[in-house]
Amino acid sequence: MRIGLLTGGGDVPGLNAVIRAVVKHAMGTYGHTIVGFRGGWRGVVDGNVVQLGRQDIRNVLPVGGTLLGTDRYHPHRNEGGLEAVVATLEAERIDAVICVGGDGTLHAASKVAETGVKVVGIPKTIDNDVEGTDLSVGFHTAVNVATEAIDRLHTTAESHNRVMVVEVMGRHAGWIAVNAGIAGGAEIVLAPEEPFDIEQVVKTIAHRHRAHASFSIVVVAEGAVGREGTALGAAAELGPQGQIVAGSASERVAAEIASRTGFDTRVTILGHVQRGGSPTPTDRILGSRFGVAAVDALQEGRTDVMTALHGERVVLVPLEEIAGKVKTVPADLLRAAKVLA
Ligand code: F6P
Repeated sequence: MRIGLLTGGGDVPGLNAVIRAVVKHAMGTYGHTIVGFRGGWRGVVDGNVVQLGRQDIRNVLPVGGTLLGTDRYHPHRNEGGLEAVVATLEAERIDAVICVGGDGTLHAASKVAETGVKVVGIPKTIDNDVEGTDLSVGFHTAVNVATEAIDRLHTTAESHNRVMVVEVMGRHAGWIAVNAGIAGGAEIVLAPEEPFDIEQVVKTIAHRHRAHASFSIVVVAEGAVGREGTALGAAAELGPQGQIVAGSASERVAAEIASRTGFDTRVTILGHVQRGGSPTPTDRILGSRFGVAAVDALQEGRTDVMTALHGERVVLVPLEEIAGKVKTVPADLLRAAKVLA
């Protein structure tokens, strides 16, 4: 079999573990050929191919990013995109495609599958918001990075009697904010799932500083918004790819806290630091397991599915069931973050 392999959307630590597992297992166990596409779905459209072999995957487990490169291009949203994908796959005599991506790239995968191409998806995103799987590759590393940052901010916040507002990634779901907030002992966690009331945030901080502390840590997911009708009720301005271009949530929250309490307040936006660096063992293992499961799925003739973690087990779920959906943080996890504040 000639298997096409691509990584699309934002990069995450752990992608190279996926690539390594696919190449090793497909070639070593079954004798298949792996054709890599550089730069996600755009690489397929452009016919930007590279044959992958053992030499390409040597010592890549600890390396962040993706050796195949990535891109946010979606063929179904561009005229002639799907036709160009099919044409390249035919020209390269590709039997099936393994597509590693977040919600956007996997949605594109489901559209490509509708044209008759055999596709297996693998979920990756630091946001952990892909529907149908308990975990996506990259999330664990991002929570580690964010937690370490919160730990570091604690000491400087306490020394200077400051309110530290930390912005973490998460446009549609607050998985990083809630998990790193709990792990780092944040006083307040603001997530997109529960629009916040800035009056309440200010009251909580003022009360805490009067009663027993002189500093606070506020974790804000980039997609957090104020409750409708309250100050900060309007969402930040978004760019063409959904990125926040003006008025980041954390800056607006910090400005309100500073002006209403008079406390010395600082903002730290962690940004792409959360996507860089070496993957944790958990992400290396998850990526490796998903890579093996994707190859096995193709071997068994299962296509148009995504590998997923359900509890301790890796299973396959239909791509069409998860495409276009966002997995949000459940109420009990949001509650834990709130009551522990
Ligand atoms: O891929 C998910 C993500 O990391 C989001 O959390 C973040 O909002 C976005 O990507 C940033 O995108 P870009 O790398 O294109 O700036």
